[in-house]
Amino acid sequence: DWTTGNVIEEQIAAIREQVGDKRAICGLSGGVDSAVAAALVQKAIGSQLTCVYVDHGLMRKGETEQVEKDFVAATGVQLKVVDAEERFLTALKGVSDPEEKRKIIGREFIRVFEQAQAEIIADEGPAVEFLVQGTLYPDVVESGGGTGAANIKSHHNVGGLPEDLEFQLIEPLRKLFKDEVRMVGQELGLPEEIVQRQPFPGPGLGIRIVGEVTKERLDLLREADAIAREELTAAGLDREIWQCPVVLLADVRSVGVQGDGRTYGHPIVLRPVSSEDAMTADWSRLPYDVLSRISTRITNEVRDVNRVVLDITSKPPGTIEWE
Ligand code: XMP
Repeated sequence: DWTTGNVIEEQIAAIREQVGDKRAICGLSGGVDSAVAAALVQKAIGSQLTCVYVDHGLMRKGETEQVEKDFVAATGVQLKVVDAEERFLTALKGVSDPEEKRKIIGREFIRVFEQAQAEIIADEGPAVEFLVQGTLYPDVVESGGGTGAANIKSHHNVGGLPEDLEFQLIEPLRKLFKDEVRMVGQELGLPEEIVQRQPFPGPGLGIRIVGEVTKERLDLLREADAIAREELTAAGLDREIWQCPVVLLADVRSVGVQGDGRTYGHPIVLRPVSSEDAMTADWSRLPYDVLSRISTRITNEVRDVNRVVLDITSKPPGTIEWE
């Protein structure tokens, strides 16, 4: 019967068989799926796996450290971190349109990842033939099944990679649902913050700043977001809400009063939602005292923010994210 122990044993045997003495690469996003997939493969083939983490500078407070320190400590995984903050900020300069931001972030991400991949391939050692992906069962069903023998062709638009390089996929989670993946991650000893992490978009805080993305605005939003997450966790509400985007309205200013002066600062939007699958969502009826603590702390502790507002729109018509 199904136990996380059985799943782990089975997968480790299958991965060893599949990879042999070759090498594999896995991209880490900070999310649950890639972390659990990487941890499983690391357990099976150890140093034949190299993980790549692209730090685009758009992560929330503490998330990059979680991957660099806690995840590595828990798994012993070999990790290549690419600090690409400058590159992403430069590419995003002057851009406010949400879809354009997504395109730029996606494009830069692939370029940086492929560069790292090329460097790993160029290292001494056996050939790199495998790419680890955290594909879950619902993803498999959604894309029409498949046999697991799929090959993925790397888009090589940066150069540095051999022409026609093909990776075979390792997808150790393709029979699992999200809650099962979390159980496997827990059994593998991954940090609670990673295993229980709520959904977070790939483009990160880049699509939670309405307006241009700058380092200063990111730092401000990181502070506000950290406060909201801290208070929601302290109130024991993490399991009750699906996710809670915290959004900076960087192009909006409103008048306020603080201490003995008038302020002219930015609003922060709280967007707590409950949902089953993110296709539809309802706004979460959070306790007033929790909302009050978040509001007081954000306006007291985050420079340039003088107003906190609550988004009470369901999806549809609103999306979960603001961009
Ligand atoms: P929306 O805003 O469309 O979000 O209601 C639905 C879910 O998808 C996440 N989301 C994204 N995830 N890249 C991602 O990886 C994206 O560009 C993106 N946009 C939205 C969002 O956080 C929510 O869970």
